[in-house]
Amino acid sequence: MEHTLLTAAMARVPGPVTVVTTVDDSGRRWGFTATSFSSVSLDPPLVLVCLDKKASSHAAFTAAAHLMVNVLAHEQEEVARRFAASGVDRFSGGDMQPCELGLPGLPGACVRVACSMYRVVDAGDHSILLGRVERTHVSDRTPLLYCDRSFSRPSPEAGRRPWSALHLAEW
Ligand SMILES: Cc1cc2nc3c(=O)[nH]c(=O)nc-3n(C[C@H](O)[C@H](O)[C@H](O)COP(=O)(O)O)c2cc1C
Repeated sequence: MEHTLLTAAMARVPGPVTVVTTVDDSGRRWGFTATSFSSVSLDPPLVLVCLDKKASSHAAFTAAAHLMVNVLAHEQEEVARRFAASGVDRFSGGDMQPCELGLPGLPGACVRVACSMYRVVDAGDHSILLGRVERTHVSDRTPLLYCDRSFSRPSPEAGRRPWSALHLAEW
């Protein structure tokens, strides 16, 4: 499978936009933008995010005892771009505050998921960070989405769709 075919296919798959953070033993904060966030298990409560082994934050996250997943709200595109940029102070915006478990969090996030590190799984050129969910914070803000290499928000039309139309009873 050619890399370009795989990335072209995956670019069509919509995903949430998150900023994943941690704090190292010296008190330094680390963070990166990630769309690879997913739930994994209810018992125990597990979520995952995949981190490129070449990322400057890889050593910090694979050694971390905790991590925070901030699911961005639709007006936080600038935060997503800043935490994906290289060679900048990603925390310069001053928008990250100590939140659940004392981890760096965005008060305006759509959802925050604070985790203890459950396991780091080797997965090709990425590491899978498996977090055990310890605390959550949920708001009613509209989430930011990423699809076709663009940021977007769920359409108002989709938001108004009645749940019954999704045939949940058939699941
Ligand atoms: C929308 C978007 C989604 C991203 N998702 C991931 C991801 O899931 N995993 C990952 O390792 N990097 C992801 N990145 C890249 C990182 O945010 C970051 O740019 C990369 O770790 C390089 O950082 P560095 O300069 O500190 O090495 C994403 C970037 C963008 C813009």
